[in-house]
Amino acid sequence: MNIRTVTKLAASAAVIALTAGAVKAEESVEVLHWWTSGGEAAALNVLKENLQKEGISWQDMPVAGGSGVQAMTALRARVTSGDPPTAVQMLGFDIKEWAEMGVLGNLNDLANEQGWDKVIPAALQDFSKYEGNWIAAPVNVHSTNWLWLSKAALDKAGGKTPETFDELIALLDKFKEQGLVPLAHGGQPWQDGTLWESVVLSVGGMDFYKKAVIDADTEALSGDTMRTVFDNMTKLRGYFDPNFSGRDWNLSTALVIEGKAGAQQMGDWSKGEWLRADKKPGTDFVCIRFPGTQGSVLFNSDQFVMFDVGEEKRNAQLKMASAVEDPAFQIAFNTVKGSVPARTDVPDTEFDDCGKKGMKDLADAASGGTLAGSLAHGHAQPSAVKEAVFDVVTQHLNGQLTTDQALERLPKAIAAAQ
Ligand code: BGC
Repeated sequence: MNIRTVTKLAASAAVIALTAGAVKAEESVEVLHWWTSGGEAAALNVLKENLQKEGISWQDMPVAGGSGVQAMTALRARVTSGDPPTAVQMLGFDIKEWAEMGVLGNLNDLANEQGWDKVIPAALQDFSKYEGNWIAAPVNVHSTNWLWLSKAALDKAGGKTPETFDELIALLDKFKEQGLVPLAHGGQPWQDGTLWESVVLSVGGMDFYKKAVIDADTEALSGDTMRTVFDNMTKLRGYFDPNFSGRDWNLSTALVIEGKAGAQQMGDWSKGEWLRADKKPGTDFVCIRFPGTQGSVLFNSDQFVMFDVGEEKRNAQLKMASAVEDPAFQIAFNTVKGSVPARTDVPDTEFDDCGKKGMKDLADAASGGTLAGSLAHGHAQPSAVKEAVFDVVTQHLNGQLTTDQALERLPKAIAAAQ
């Protein structure tokens, strides 16, 4: 070996040592999530950038698919192979299911130090804690019983927002006359389920929603009120465009934004797309509660669930959880995402009118007993039950089941999944 080779070897050894040192010193988080639409990605960037400022690098693990169905499948594969990500975006009952498996970390010290108990509403704590221990950091509160209207189309139709289901139908007829797709819907089971739960609440009110969806009461699931729910779903189906099957939710939002459709029923993540397109509430679009559901809120909360990843990554994990609960982050993120803060001590001043309404509706519903978890977004039932409902609702919406058959199937499918 000549001297040049030796020098070269020594130099590359030094480089390797340096790189190894750098890798070790650099803290990072690997985050599994399904925030892949324009508005969602913009919101997530707020967190990425905040963490980068703290010297924590971000390894992105996006798994596209609204409501996270595909993300949960990807997660199972990672955990099964013994290599969970640092943090995972997760909803309600999925959190409980992972907690039961004993694979999650513990955030108690941080939560106690920062007083999370006092500022995170009980409805969220129910999912962020398992057996009294904090296992997740709630990012936001979304709500599903919203209707998003094109302001231009609404004005052309007389400007009055619909308050009842019948008024909604009358408005959709007017949108049709305008040559628009009246209702932009994407035919995916979770989106069908999102529409269905708004219709359940609209037809039966909150007591009925609780009885049918939360308590899975057989009579409520197969009786006359539920019959009207399925009949109303059939009516709404008549206002979709021929290309609705399989369409992603954000593409339906885009149809309304681009003036091709009049309205979309969707959770308030939809607002993120409007904002991303530089559109303003009250000027370009109008947000109202799904007709017939005023005063009630169906909620879901995205939480970052922290897996037990061992000491090496623990510090970065805690820094991420802390960054998520920072009140300034809660404002910066949620004003972009369309959701409202997961903390009750954050002022609404920075939020637009839809955000302010979302915050007020949530507080009123929480104190008035008209707040319930969204089924379609994992906050009413375990995932197996949720999927059983999706099956019936989707098949009915696509004409594969009559209303009579759906009413017969629904309680049975739920019972089999319980
Ligand atoms: C999540 C939202 C997300 C939406 C569409 C919901 O389940 O809570 O954060 O934007 O799905 O992907």
